[in-house]
Amino acid sequence: MAFTIGVAGKGGVGKTTVAGLIARLLTERGEGPVLAIDADPNTNFHQVLGLHLEQTIGELREETLKKIKDLPAGISKNQYLEYGLQQCLVEDTGIDLLAMGRGEGPFCYCAVNHVLRRYMDLLNKNYTYIVLDNEAGLEHLSRRTTQNIDVLLIVSDAFPIALQAAARIHKLADELKLHIDQRFLVLNHLRDVTPSGPGMENMRQSIAQTGLTLVGEIPRDEALFRLSLECKPLGELPLSSPARLAMKAILEKVLKRGGP
Ligand SMILES: Nc1ncnc2c1ncn2[C@@H]1O[C@H](COP(=O)(O)OP(=O)(O)O)[C@@H](O)[C@H]1O
Ligand SMILES: [Mg+2]
Repeated sequence: MAFTIGVAGKGGVGKTTVAGLIARLLTERGEGPVLAIDADPNTNFHQVLGLHLEQTIGELREETLKKIKDLPAGISKNQYLEYGLQQCLVEDTGIDLLAMGRGEGPFCYCAVNHVLRRYMDLLNKNYTYIVLDNEAGLEHLSRRTTQNIDVLLIVSDAFPIALQAAARIHKLADELKLHIDQRFLVLNHLRDVTPSGPGMENMRQSIAQTGLTLVGEIPRDEALFRLSLECKPLGELPLSSPARLAMKAILEKVLKRGGP
């Protein structure tokens, strides 16, 4: 079974960046294939990984429902879907990617989701690690169309609004009765902040109020910011990048506590 690391948090706090750094660092460990799952309808995990995405599962789901009546003789809906799911999987050296795409429309998706869950179970056996980039509402986790999670990293910047969102996600995960072994807070400093500067007491209070253990902090990283402006993948970050090094230290802590 794959060891699954999920990333969640308010929009814009650096979830995809964190998920991308983790996926790249895990691939470099050379311990087996990594599957990156984009469970955010904004679908941009593939870009930070430098992968080319043809189709999301959401698009396949809609396409299947439209074509259901016109499938060629001898091809069942399940066969069509299973083939389609394999086409959705982006394959690369040491890392593959699957994008969930948009959420569900007004139709009944039960049968489609059933096939998807079976496919996910199969994938779980084929990878050493899965890295899941979630949206704040954790929709795919709640629908059980993605995996259970070994470690959930809830990312926040230093501002109370994002920290309050982190607390809500922590609570939501309980309400949804998700299977998550461990949860941690990751502080991503999108702007330069000095721990002794004004407002820091507020930040410390907001961190405590999340009820989460702070596992590490990622500094603002100019090289990372520039890459993102130029739409370049995280693989082009220098090995000495402060964000990359900070993420490496966090990952080592997380894997030591509960790794595969
Ligand atoms: N530590 C950091 N230093 C500099 N820029 C960052 C940092 N973390 C994230 N960013 C930038 O912030 C923007 C939002 O990050 P992103 O990972 O897409 O957020 P989310 O997935 O939570 O919406 C991106 O342009 C990203 O490059
Ligand atoms: Mg994102």
